Amino acid sequence: MQNIKHIAIIMDGNGRWAKKKGLPRIEGHKKGVDAIKKVVRAADDFGIKYLTLYSFSTENWKRPKKEVEFLFRLMESSLKKEAQDLHKNNVRVLFAGRINEIPLFLQKTIEEIKKLTCKNTGLNLIFAINYGGRQEIIDALNKAMEKYKNKKIDINMINKFLYIPDIPEPDIVVRTSGEQRMSNFLTWQAIYSELYFTDKFWPDFGRSDLKKICDEYKRRKRRFGGL
Ligand code: IPE
Ligand code: IPE
Ligand code: MG
Repeated sequence: MQNIKHIAIIMDGNGRWAKKKGLPRIEGHKKGVDAIKKVVRAADDFGIKYLTLYSFSTENWKRPKKEVEFLFRLMESSLKKEAQDLHKNNVRVLFAGRINEIPLFLQKTIEEIKKLTCKNTGLNLIFAINYGGRQEIIDALNKAMEKYKNKKIDINMINKFLYIPDIPEPDIVVRTSGEQRMSNFLTWQAIYSELYFTDKFWPDFGRSDLKKICDEYKRRKRRFGGL
């Protein structure tokens, strides 16, 4: 018997959800925000301490400029709208990724919500934005080499310079929409994470799906190479 401390989710399938309904892709992204709200509440209720949501990858810049711009605006408005509620619910909001490369309006909103919620002690909600696992390793390695100069770099030195140090590695990585790949997510941290795939598109994902995953996790036997 074990409970999930940290769950990380690749929220995939917004576009296909919309297409299935004959709607433009952006409608799928909007519905995706509703799913996030449900899952944040449920994760908190289920006693999960860390929830990491893959929101924009370093590869997502390849999409049409209009969609990329829409996604950043949607993140800005959703964070602004939800900030007070999240704060009231004792949620600490954090961000992982090359935040300095995203539009300034979103960087500003990110700074505000980080500051507002930084002392909260409930759920840690982490948005991975302009995030790439390889980029994170390279960024950490460069910082570690700068600090430790001519010393040999070890695992702990890299850990110290991850985008958000001092959080437990994900117990389980979930991907929606039927795709079964990591797409550059948590390359360093997920080496021993359990994996869970569901065919549901992200906008259809909700509390009962999260519950199912919590139950499934309890049945998994983690060995970490031991016996
Ligand atoms: C996930 O949904 C959201 C982001 C990657 C930003 P997609 O936009 O990838 O939706 P599909 O995979 O095209 O259906
Ligand atoms: C992964 O989804 C990134 C996010 C969910 C933010 P993608 O839709 O970008 O991944 P691929 O291109 O199908 O691997
Ligand atoms: Mg996708």
